[in-house]
Amino acid sequence: MRIAVLASGGGSNLAAILDHLALQGERAPGQVVWVGATKSTAGALTRAAAARVAHDVVAAPDDGDALLATLRDAGTELLVLAGYLRHVPATVVRAFRGRVLNVHPALLPAFGGAGMYGERVHAAVIASGAKLSGVTVHFVNEEYDRGAIIAQWPAPVFASDTPASLGQRVLRLEHRLYPRCIAAVASGLITLDAAERAQGVPASLQPEFIDLFPS
Ligand code: GRF
Repeated sequence: MRIAVLASGGGSNLAAILDHLALQGERAPGQVVWVGATKSTAGALTRAAAARVAHDVVAAPDDGDALLATLRDAGTELLVLAGYLRHVPATVVRAFRGRVLNVHPALLPAFGGAGMYGERVHAAVIASGAKLSGVTVHFVNEEYDRGAIIAQWPAPVFASDTPASLGQRVLRLEHRLYPRCIAAVASGLITLDAAERAQGVPASLQPEFIDLFPS
């Protein structure tokens, strides 16, 4: 599948996706063909250039027709949001129904929704007293952070945690879970219908909890 990625920040998720697909070589179920970011200084564009992937600044992220035309020009078959902070216009979500994915650094539906991104999420988790946080990969629909969930992995919250330390722990999980979910959707192992029927997480995406946090 031809994968387009929208990012806003440093692009560490983009890097993890590129690395995972490169590791699979010929067996990769998809390849990143285009990267867009709303700021010309976004690290994601630098990473795309280094990986020799077509990339652009998305000057009008709220202009659904323009974004859709750009995605179609790139032959996009799967749209991946990787640290993308803007709302994807409904025109695009509808045109790519069941083929837009997002990663959120908490266990949705908790700690999600408009304005909940970056360290704000982790500060809210810590303030709540929750002892588990984690990462959610989900399909994107017109409602912010409310599409069908594909997979979630847990991360412990320690008493000593700051939003930054918890954020780092969750980001490491994102880098492991997101590429595997993207590959699963690109290969057809996971579909929106199955996710909406909450058929559970395929065994291949179960938390490798133990080896993530050696005692
Ligand atoms: C991080 O807060 C991550 O949790 C979220 O987007 C932010 C930046 O990600 N998914 P990236 O390094 O730009 O991929």
